[in-house]
Amino acid sequence: MVLFYFFVFSVAVTIYIVYYLLSKNHDYWKKRKVPHLKPSLLFGNYKETILLKKHQTQVAYDICKQFPGKIKGMFHLVKNCANQLECLIREKMEISPNIDAKQLLAMFTIDIITSCAFGINCNSMNKNADMTSNPFLAVRERIIDTSKSAGVKLYCRQMWPQIFYGLGFSLFDKNIYYFFRNILAGVFESREGKPSTTNDFVDLILTWKKNKVITGVSLSNEKTGAKKELTMDVDDDLLISQCVAIFGAGFETTATTLSFLLYEMAKNQDAQTKLIEEVDSYFEKNETIEYECVNELPYIAACIDETLRLYPVLGLLTREVMDDYTFPTGLRLKKGDRIHVPIYHIHRNPDYFPEPEVFRPERFYGDAKKDIKPFTFFPFGEGPRICLGK
Ligand code: HEM
Repeated sequence: MVLFYFFVFSVAVTIYIVYYLLSKNHDYWKKRKVPHLKPSLLFGNYKETILLKKHQTQVAYDICKQFPGKIKGMFHLVKNCANQLECLIREKMEISPNIDAKQLLAMFTIDIITSCAFGINCNSMNKNADMTSNPFLAVRERIIDTSKSAGVKLYCRQMWPQIFYGLGFSLFDKNIYYFFRNILAGVFESREGKPSTTNDFVDLILTWKKNKVITGVSLSNEKTGAKKELTMDVDDDLLISQCVAIFGAGFETTATTLSFLLYEMAKNQDAQTKLIEEVDSYFEKNETIEYECVNELPYIAACIDETLRLYPVLGLLTREVMDDYTFPTGLRLKKGDRIHVPIYHIHRNPDYFPEPEVFRPERFYGDAKKDIKPFTFFPFGEGPRICLGK
């Protein structure tokens, strides 16, 4: 009898161990709050591959299709704004052949960012919309304040940040802060304070608000190889400043780049013809514009890259040295030193880009792109603080 119980016990323990070993990693994605398919016990997510019914590539493709990326999931919003822009341009052209492209593109990018980031349909491109009363356009004017006093403030902050903040100054006008505080309050209320399924920027910050802290990995890990985590308390100031950052960093950069692209297209008829031909051939194969088009329009991509080379919106980046560092040449930098990375200058260096003043998208087209030396073209910055919009 004892032997029988021992046998049953051993079988149970063996089953448990096998079950444990087979399923111990099944909560891998769940623990990290990453959308996933529930794995089956024996085969995980690759049952059809293991049973030799489908190739692994196809199974992975099918899984990925069920989880479109965030940007892809929001593409319909971008498309909607693009359609509105097209209608608006047509209407404006009927009235006058001269249109203020920069203003139109600012409205276009504002609409995209407000709908993708804040879930708000600002409708600034609706022909009945009163542009003068669009609050986002008014905020834009305040953010890109080009007055002399704003310039003095900007450089004082850059040169003496401790004194600047110590005296209670802030870079942006307080009204910008109040504006985004109200926007956020409205959006939070409409979502009843809980993250929705929209998966947009507001959802992200609602999750931070709920968790009360943000946890991230320390930048020093890159050097030490450690897994140090840092946490930050979440308060309204932090949430609002993130909104100002995403709005400020996203719209003007994009609108300016698009304006320069149009300017270069107007000056370079050959490039313009080639670009139009590429678009026409895309529409011969596809009825509407879809997210995947970004891979099917390499000449447009090359024109955008060439525009960003000639007119990098942030032509000078500042970095503060975190630890003493000696270059292979012997040049020593001390912790706390601030250095300027002259992107505009690097992009126009003839050693890297022959005849640098000439708009030549072919530099970024096809195989020629491979000849570009690393770190000679970085309009979106580089490293851990690289542009979020890239
Ligand atoms: C053509 C368009 C854009 C250009 C040229 C551009 C350029 C840049 C550059 C050069 C930086 C790095 C700044 C630094 O290193 O100090 C940056 C950072 C950033 N960009 Fe963009 N950007 C563009 C569009 C966008 C868009 C559409 C968004 C958001 C929707 C965005 C969000 C950000 C954010 C949040 C940062 C700060 C990242 C950090 O500090 O960790 N940008 N951008």
